[in-house]
Amino acid sequence: MSNKMWGGRFEAAPDDIMTQINASIDIDRRLWRQDIAGSKAHAAMLVKQNIISDADGQVLQNGLDRIAGEIESGQFDFKTELEDIHMNIEARLREIIGDAAGRLHTGRSRNDQVATDFKLWVRDACDDLIMQIEGLQDTLHTLSKEHDTTAMPGFTHLQVAQPVTLGLHLDAYWHMLSRDKTRLADCRKRLNKSPLGAAALAGTPFPIDRDMTAQDLGFERPMSNTMDAVSARDFATEFLFCCTQCGLNLSRLAEEIILWSSSQFGFITLSDQWSTGSSIMPQKKNPDAAELIRAKTGRLTGNLTQLLMVLKALPLTYNKDLQEDKASVFESFDTLTLCLSATNGMVATMRVHKDKMREAALSGFSTATRLADWLVMNLNIPFRDAHHITGQIVKIAETKGCRLDELELSDMQQIERGITEDIFNSLRI
Ligand code: ARG
Repeated sequence: MSNKMWGGRFEAAPDDIMTQINASIDIDRRLWRQDIAGSKAHAAMLVKQNIISDADGQVLQNGLDRIAGEIESGQFDFKTELEDIHMNIEARLREIIGDAAGRLHTGRSRNDQVATDFKLWVRDACDDLIMQIEGLQDTLHTLSKEHDTTAMPGFTHLQVAQPVTLGLHLDAYWHMLSRDKTRLADCRKRLNKSPLGAAALAGTPFPIDRDMTAQDLGFERPMSNTMDAVSARDFATEFLFCCTQCGLNLSRLAEEIILWSSSQFGFITLSDQWSTGSSIMPQKKNPDAAELIRAKTGRLTGNLTQLLMVLKALPLTYNKDLQEDKASVFESFDTLTLCLSATNGMVATMRVHKDKMREAALSGFSTATRLADWLVMNLNIPFRDAHHITGQIVKIAETKGCRLDELELSDMQQIERGITEDIFNSLRI
């Protein structure tokens, strides 16, 4: 039998493989709440505009509520032959309420319907991720305050550069996450215009009220160009970029956690809850969660690239290619959610070895820049010369095999006579 929803002109049923390639229900079933909300708003508007009767409107609302209950409680039977979430819900509506179901799609197309549902979903996802990021930021903030005097080496080129504090280092991630948050908020703001009412691409002759449905669904206003409304997916690529960038930031922290927890660094020990063992080496404690967060950046980047490629050179307006827009978005949301929670758990429970960090902060002549600055500030030596003098002092320490603060004052005076005991305040941390 041909398809009940659009098969009027068809004689034969689609091939099984055609049904398979055409179906998106396994993925877009996640849009069910948004689809029902969109349909309820559309039905209410059709009533208000006298396009359908009050009675039909009421029956539609009740039917849609009942379907929401069925899906919520796991009783809904999703069917591949009904392609997607929109047709699954509409077909079920017909089973429940009969012919009135056929009036729901008046003045609407699946093209504006799916764009609306998807935008509603991404909007919620932005809000959700913003909250999750804030959770991680709170953990980082607490730790930063706790460690605002915990000395650690700051690195450039992964070589010890200058002493910093662990508080400062963690606070850097707090700031990166703040930007990730504002990026998501910005994406949310830009996407919050309603495609509903654009119909297939050219609007509809019915006297619909697009402002009403936009408002009902919490959109700022309707999208003004109907062709743009059904074709645009830049909100999804933008969302994917936001996820990728945030994941990328997490991968940098993950990499540092991996380094810091190695025996070579010994700065931190991850809690047992956030480590794994080796099946052959009994002594091992591995930072698997951090490694996976590092690796999942590949998935996030891949998802972004996938949708960019789907959209490249796609002519207006709706093309079925656009059905391939959701899997990546859902997966990136899930992946980032997992990475944010795991990072939070790892960081909140790690043990910090202050002594090891302090020791490392003094290694590698890390206070050399302070020494040079002291020469400039106290002896009015031009910085370039101070840099050179400091280099010579570093060389003495290197030869003696000691740190800068372990040198004798006379060692330094040998290079620059003006240096006084006060220099040690700059060499100790
Ligand atoms: N499942 C489709 C999608 O996700 C819904 C829109 C179908 N529109 C159409 N003209 N075939 O894109």
